[in-house]
Amino acid sequence: MYFDNAATTQKPQQVIDALNNYYTRQNSNIHRGVHYLSQLATNAYEESREAVRQFINAKHTHEIIFTRGTTESINLVASSFSKKFLHEGNTVVISAMEHHSNIVPWQVLCEEKGARLRVAPITDTGELDVQAFQRMLTGRTKLVAVTYVSNALGSVNPVKELIGMAHARGVPVLVDGAQAVPHLAIDVLELGCDFFVFSGHKVFGPTGIGVLYGRAELLEEMPPYQTGGDMILSVRFDKTIFNSLPHKFEAGTPDIAGAIGLGAAIDYLNHVGMDRIAAHEAELLQYGTEVLHSIDGVRILGNAAHKASVLSFVMDAAHPHDIGQMLDGEGIAIRAGHHCAQPLMERFDVPATARASLAFYNTREELDALGKALERVHEVFG
Ligand SMILES: Cc1ncc(COP(=O)(O)O)c(C=O)c1O
Repeated sequence: MYFDNAATTQKPQQVIDALNNYYTRQNSNIHRGVHYLSQLATNAYEESREAVRQFINAKHTHEIIFTRGTTESINLVASSFSKKFLHEGNTVVISAMEHHSNIVPWQVLCEEKGARLRVAPITDTGELDVQAFQRMLTGRTKLVAVTYVSNALGSVNPVKELIGMAHARGVPVLVDGAQAVPHLAIDVLELGCDFFVFSGHKVFGPTGIGVLYGRAELLEEMPPYQTGGDMILSVRFDKTIFNSLPHKFEAGTPDIAGAIGLGAAIDYLNHVGMDRIAAHEAELLQYGTEVLHSIDGVRILGNAAHKASVLSFVMDAAHPHDIGQMLDGEGIAIRAGHHCAQPLMERFDVPATARASLAFYNTREELDALGKALERVHEVFG
């Protein structure tokens, strides 16, 4: 039984077939060849970009940049945006529930630039303190970077509202969508965000591929993140002219197979339907919450009114690692640890939690089995 979907998801056969098909029938480098295979690979790669655009409802295909994943997308923005727009005395606002990959890049950057990182607090139920967030937006704020869904608590942030507040002060917003894309239909135009980032492997696609969506007007103004092949229009020893979007931000040979696999994952999700996925997961979340509440000594962390299907919990009797190990012995995969959110663990005064993160393929029967296994944990350690 697999309940570690927030770490990475299982892959549908269609995704595995797409990877296999690329390597057996289409393998070639893209954008540089006039030959048949190169055109086949280029078309497949670019079709995936268009599939991503439609999936998140971006306005232009060239606003979709392929990266290695959420982490690289955030680092790209941190590095490139800041070169142009972040100066000494400025602030970057994040929240207390961010994943390390949406903390450390900003922290390092602020240190380098003499800027200040401001952290919007969260409540005891695991919800962002929206008023405190708003108070942190000042004339000095240059960027907001906030997660849509917390990987450790499941809280769904009111990102549209946050974006509205930031935009009222002329501040652009990056949304970390790593945990949102597997669960919610995404519409970047409706949200109004300036950047939106996610990872392929958390959305039933391959590892090694991810997405940065950026508004074209901003991306146009930002310098390249990496330099080299493919991101250039022309190179002379005295002057290089950079390529247009999206290629300006895709230096070198990309993960062609990964992009094609991600396209297959998106086709699959479109077929299943994000609305159906959200409805099924809402039911699972409610049921799983009841199951956990019925077990003595279990405390759920993250009780936001609006939650995705993440069940983070601690037990009086057992350390999260003991829980994880005992469940593993019964063939149940959960995650135990700080979930790359150490400041959040500190906020709740726990060293770690046990986390069951659900995907659309999980079932109530599996949650029953989880409940029974946790009762045994209680008996053994209690
Ligand atoms: C909210 C959030 N942001 C960022 C990341 C980093 O994703 P990746 O390791 O795929 O770059 C994760 C991964 O768990 C996450 O949950």
